[in-house]
Amino acid sequence: MVFKKKAGAPAATDRAVPQHIAIIMDGNGRWAQKRGLPRTAGHAAGGETFRTIARYCNSIGVKYFTVYAFSTENWKRPAEEVKAIMSLFNRYLREAIEIMEKEGISLRVFGDLAPIDPELRELVGRVNLISDHVEGMQASLCINYGGRDEIVRAAREFARRCAEGEADPDSLTEENFNSYLYTDGVPDPELIIRPGGEKRTSNFLMWQSAYSEYYFTDVLWPDFTGEVIEEAIADFNRRQRRFGGVV
Ligand code: FPP
Repeated sequence: MVFKKKAGAPAATDRAVPQHIAIIMDGNGRWAQKRGLPRTAGHAAGGETFRTIARYCNSIGVKYFTVYAFSTENWKRPAEEVKAIMSLFNRYLREAIEIMEKEGISLRVFGDLAPIDPELRELVGRVNLISDHVEGMQASLCINYGGRDEIVRAAREFARRCAEGEADPDSLTEENFNSYLYTDGVPDPELIIRPGGEKRTSNFLMWQSAYSEYYFTDVLWPDFTGEVIEEAIADFNRRQRRFGGVV
């Protein structure tokens, strides 16, 4: 579908806007180090960028905006850094509770929340309740998220249902497997962007990215702007998506 520029969005030519854009928010640490600041300052700046880019995506008609905020492997980081990131989640979830309805952006959290601080879990519950009735773009934060972990959990849940006689092994299809994933009901991302210069997927949306287009840029996440999103969308528009077929 081709969306025209909406009022408020910076100038952009008519182009197909992906309905689902996902981002691996990378480069916070290096951004801070370049400025002689602690890594935690980079994450704080990265949180501001998340807010700005979520609003930008909403303004151009993106329907789903998913970001990789904390992986199942990120617990290996120094305790002080993990604590700082968790406190940023706390802050942004509280802010979301205040502004979601006004801004027309809902917020969901994908990931295993069992090891997360109970206060954060309670905030996620409140955010979910509000999101249930907010129309507009869905922003999703992947917290304690791993793509392989998500698939294993889904397989385990399906096996449990089969063992209990609630499901039949032969009934499983690629389409209904999605209902066991965190992204139940969310279309696969057409475009996945990784700032920060690395060119790997880092266990992000392993199932959902089967046919996603990737866009890599050296820009560090705290420096990321709407213009970079536009460059990524322009690049996406030049790709020929064949989904395994021929054109
Ligand atoms: C990767 O950069 C970034 C993270 C592991 C944390 C992302 C968290 C935030 C942006 C803060 C809060 C976010 C939201 C959405 C409320 P890195 O530290 O690996 O960077 P480096 O590769 O330069 O070291």
